[in-house]
Amino acid sequence: MSEALFHDVVRDRHSVRSFLPAPVPAALLRSVLEDAQRSPSNCNTQPWQVHIVSGAKRDALSQAILAADEAGRFTLDFSFDLEDFDGVYRQRARDQGAAYYQAIGVAREATQERRTAARYNLEFFGAPHVALLFMPKVGDSVRVAADIGMYAQTFLLALTAHGLGGIPQTMLGMYADTIREVLGIDPSSKMLFGISFGYPDRSAAANRYRIGKVPIEQSVTFHT
Ligand SMILES: Cc1cc2nc3c(=O)[nH]c(=O)nc-3n(C[C@H](O)[C@H](O)[C@H](O)COP(=O)(O)O)c2cc1C
Repeated sequence: MSEALFHDVVRDRHSVRSFLPAPVPAALLRSVLEDAQRSPSNCNTQPWQVHIVSGAKRDALSQAILAADEAGRFTLDFSFDLEDFDGVYRQRARDQGAAYYQAIGVAREATQERRTAARYNLEFFGAPHVALLFMPKVGDSVRVAADIGMYAQTFLLALTAHGLGGIPQTMLGMYADTIREVLGIDPSSKMLFGISFGYPDRSAAANRYRIGKVPIEQSVTFHT
């Protein structure tokens, strides 16, 4: 196994927010899914329930989510509120938002343009495919959600290694009921987030910026 290759794949991965319309060939998609399936999970329960949406269904799903958003029909299975984040976590989220909007040329005070940019989430950032990550409800859900996170990162790294890209999207989880209705998914399956994916449009401003990471000293405590 090449350590250098792994190093490159990890650093090459970034959130892709503009895609080319070309679909991913079925064999390539299968190979990415085979890689993601290798993910670890609590007691090997492998609780990920993955729905890949493409083609006409993808377009219909986007339309339904946009309509739900317009109607203010937000149906989250798990809460998410930036107000819940304090201190450095809040600041990092603010810095990320500011860096992204600056990269795509949207001013802080341009409320309508910001809304349009945010709603691009609901068009899957132009990606030809979206993977919607559902899970069974088990206890307080924290352990299963961690397993879904493991799966998601393996999926994202596999995309990168194959010249593809993706963007995890909590925002899609705000329309969980709408998504279940369009795809015929049982209400017992809970949605954590989605990953839009495909071939990155490498010329797009949204994909030319990179957000930094804090030094490991801010995340890791060494005990000896
Ligand atoms: C679980 C999860 C959900 C996310 N949800 C969204 C989202 O709804 N919309 C979005 O534009 N980015 C979303 N992101 C992307 C983050 O903003 C991004 O990962 C972070 O800024 C770090 O950038 P990087 O992925 O390029 O390293 C999400 C990331 C994760 C891990």
